[in-house]
Parts: sequence; C-alpha cells; structure tokens
Amino acid sequence: MHRECTIFDTLPDGRTVRRWRLRNDEGAEVCLIDLGAAIQRLAVPDRSGIVADVVLGFDSAAPYLEAPYFGAVVGRFANRIRNGRFELEGNAYQLALNDGPNSLHGGARGFDKQMWAGEWVETGDGPGVRFSLDSPDGDEGYPGAVTVSVTYVWTEDSRLIVDYAARSTRATPFNITQHSYFNLAGVVGSEGSVLDHELTIPASRYLPIDETLIPLAAAAPVQDSAFDFRTAKAVGRDLGSQHEQLALAGGFDHNWIIDGSGFRPVARLHDPASGRTLDIRSDLPGLQFYSGNFLDGTIAGKAGVHYGRRCALALETQYFPDSPNRPDFPDCTLRPGALFSSRTMFTFSC
Ligand code: GLA
Repeated sequence: MHRECTIFDTLPDGRTVRRWRLRNDEGAEVCLIDLGAAIQRLAVPDRSGIVADVVLGFDSAAPYLEAPYFGAVVGRFANRIRNGRFELEGNAYQLALNDGPNSLHGGARGFDKQMWAGEWVETGDGPGVRFSLDSPDGDEGYPGAVTVSVTYVWTEDSRLIVDYAARSTRATPFNITQHSYFNLAGVVGSEGSVLDHELTIPASRYLPIDETLIPLAAAAPVQDSAFDFRTAKAVGRDLGSQHEQLALAGGFDHNWIIDGSGFRPVARLHDPASGRTLDIRSDLPGLQFYSGNFLDGTIAGKAGVHYGRRCALALETQYFPDSPNRPDFPDCTLRPGALFSSRTMFTFSC
C-alpha cells in the first residue's frame, strides 16, 4: 500500500487542507481531505484494467464549502428533521432551517463544512486515516458536546471500510453518513449519466414522503412499484413513470428500510458498460437513495467537468429521516456514557 499526505489547498481564511492518499497494488486509490472528512477521489479499475475516478468532487478546497455535500461526512443529523424542531428529555430544540421548512444534514454548518483532524492509523483490516472532530455543546442548536471520529481503511482488495465512533456529554440525536456521489463509468462530463447503472436494494419497504421530503406516517411496500429494487434494475427504468412519490422528489430521494439487521448488504450498484460494481454493507437501518435530481450542470467539478442532472447518485446509509420526531422509528439518540459505533463498507470489483 502506497501512502502519501500532501497539502491539498488553502482555504480563503488561510486554513490548510491536507489530502491523504492510499493506493493499493492494483493501482486503485482513495484520496481523503480534512475538510468534511471527504472522499475527494476514488479511482478503481474497470474490466480492462482502466482506472477511473468514480466520485464527484473538486480539485480545490473552497468549492467544498458551497457544494451539496460532495464526498463529505454528514452530521450531526444526516437527512431532514421536520421544521428543524425536536424534543428530548423534556427540552425543546430549534435548529436552523436550511431546506425549506426543514433542517437538512446537520444545519448551516454541519460536519461536512468542518475541518477534521486527520492521522494515519494501522488497523486489523489494513492501513487508513482517522479523522476526528469536536462538535461543541449547542453546535448548530444540538445538545451535548460530541466527539466523533471517522476511520477510513483501504484494503488491497479495494474495500473502503468506514468506521464511525462518537460519544456525547448529553443526550442528542445522532445520525452520520458518507455522502459520496458515484458514477461507476467515471464521471464523463455533462453527458455523464447513471440511468444505465443497475441498482439492487434489498428492501421490501420504503418511506414515502410529503412535499418537503419528510416521511409520511406509514412505510409502504415496494412490491409492484418503481421503488422495487430487490432484483437488479436500471436506475432509469422507472424514473419516468407516473408515480406521485417520484414527482414529489423529482426522482428518487427516499429512504429504504433495509431488510434484516446487523451488518448486511444494503445496496449493489453495477455499471454494465465498464463492468465496475460497488457493493455496500452496513449495520444501519436505512439507505437514502438520491438520484442526483438537484444537480443541474451549474457546478463545475474536477477537471472543469459540469455536473449535470443524474450524472451521479448517492447511496447514504443512515437512520431514518426525522427520527427525533418519530417514536415509531429506531432510536437515534446518543446518550452520555454510550459509545456510538457503526460500520459501512464499500467494496469495488469488476
Ligand atoms: C441528500 C438529500 C437530498 C439532497 C442531497 C444534497 O441526498 O436527501 O434531498 O439534499 O442530499 O443535495
């Protein structure tokens, strides 16, 4: 494994952003940056051995402060909280509203906008980088001082293991995810599209949403609907179908309730053209599949490529949206004395 830490860029306020690179003997590599603990580059071979970068991102640091979470770790609460409001242990909390009437992805300055402290680590699974962050009591309106770490391990067989750990001094909602946008063909300009990618999500139910993308009262079966990905299906196959839920989100932007529990498969993405496959496993209950509906070509990313609608998609492992207001959902409360510990693994093959 080849390892290298270099200066990626300097932010307008003078802060230095480092880039941590891990390249295995296959020539597959992952590059991580301190800003947002983000995956800046993830390059893997196709079936003829051609290595291409399969994630959206930037060649410089400042755009990460504005971008919609490209490659970043998202928290303290990934996804939406209705009206940015919740109650915990008898206290009411109001968060900043940064997505219509709701709070999205930790608020105005969530984990994705923070500078994390990186260090090399050796783990039983292989070498990696651990990013640590202190989120103070009251950060973005959330209770409790939280110390959080995200450890990325890159293996010789192109598995990216993402281990999350956190503790809090007071009870707080806690929901953390990795927000990479993937295009397994390598992101190929504004014509790039994930509509031909084949997606599998082992989930019998998903969470229908209201017009602000907050889950409705009840889950729905995927059976006989555009939301059934239990067997591999092209992302674009049912995207154009007349489904009220697709109209509300402008495509897929929903949470699937992954069948089973414990560390298990949550998604498989396959690009028939290149042969690249991504398998995702996680111990978290839900998966947000977002089909890149809000990308509109205005953002110019790496090598000046404009990121058009559906040029990439996100598969975010997480607790269910609006969990702090939903006693019927798995409890996402992190309490003092408890250790939050969770793993998501991205396996690349071809
Ligand atoms: C998540 C959300 C989407 C969108 C993106 C960022 O995937 O579910 O609605 O906010 O993040 O644009």
